[in-house]
Amino acid sequence: MNSRRRYIAITACVLLLLVVVAFGISTIREKKAEESAPEYVFLYAENQIADYPTTHGANRFAELVYERTDGRIKILVKPDAELGSEMQVIQQMQYGGIAFARISLSQLAEYMPEMNVLQMPYLYSGPEHMWRVLDGEIGDEFLLKTRDHDLVGLSWYDAGARNFYSTSPITCLEDIKGMNIRVQESDMMADMVSALGANPSKIVYSEVYSAIEQGLVDGAENNWPSYEAMRHYMVARYYTIDEHTRVPELQICSKAVWDKLSESDQKIIEECARESALYERVLWEEREKRSREVAEKSGITVIELSPEEKLRFRDAMQSVYTKYCRDQMDILQAIMEY
Ligand code: GCU
Repeated sequence: MNSRRRYIAITACVLLLLVVVAFGISTIREKKAEESAPEYVFLYAENQIADYPTTHGANRFAELVYERTDGRIKILVKPDAELGSEMQVIQQMQYGGIAFARISLSQLAEYMPEMNVLQMPYLYSGPEHMWRVLDGEIGDEFLLKTRDHDLVGLSWYDAGARNFYSTSPITCLEDIKGMNIRVQESDMMADMVSALGANPSKIVYSEVYSAIEQGLVDGAENNWPSYEAMRHYMVARYYTIDEHTRVPELQICSKAVWDKLSESDQKIIEECARESALYERVLWEEREKRSREVAEKSGITVIELSPEEKLRFRDAMQSVYTKYCRDQMDILQAIMEY
């Protein structure tokens, strides 16, 4: 072989080798991509903004599930009510259109009226009392009951205590009488406000700011973080602390989706949901303080309802208890004594 031929032969060999190596690399890459492509990609609905304790809890949940299923289950968290209002989300979940969500208990109670007993006005003596109930067997039983409604309750998130806020001060029962107050899309909340002599308006969460700004309502009621995160404090400058309700949040899964998962994946999801809830509760405490500071710095007036007035607000709730707890007196009693 002369040197020219040798050169051509060597070049051809090198080229062939390069083609083989390149082909091998791309096959390995494709295989790897196939291996790491998730088996399931699920949507998670959240109606709060991205920087909010429940949304951070949801992100933690999604990360934990992804890690513990080795990337087989990927959960995409969609904040800002991108997937619809809470009521729309619950409806879609009952058909499996959305896999996961964090929902206020008061919205779920519209589908499961028996849930109302957990959010009755002035029911809990404080957060410790509520967590004893929810982290105990009563809370577990209610999570299980969601399964009769095409949902699977996974864990309880914190949403603190709700208070009234308005465009003019509420210092006593007479002040709130005749006011138009926004409430969640909840019959029980509407009845609670009516029992105080005010006129309830059911308005979806994302519309509350403009409803107050445009004077459609004189006020609303919510916890400190919602009041601050949704900028309600800029239009309703009086915040009256009466802590009328503690409405916890639930993380839920669509039953249609749940039934497709293996038992071991279900177990992982339940564990991750409970862990993420503990994380959310820590963030909640911090955010409650920070939100109050932000609102106070802006110059709002904070009114502490006097114990006498609080008693009057509380006494006005008799009819609401009769209407919503009539058939659950035993559970109500158990909650009160827990
Ligand atoms: C809380 C809760 C929301 C709910 C809102 C409301 O902020 O976290 O999920 O929509 O109350 O008052 O509507």
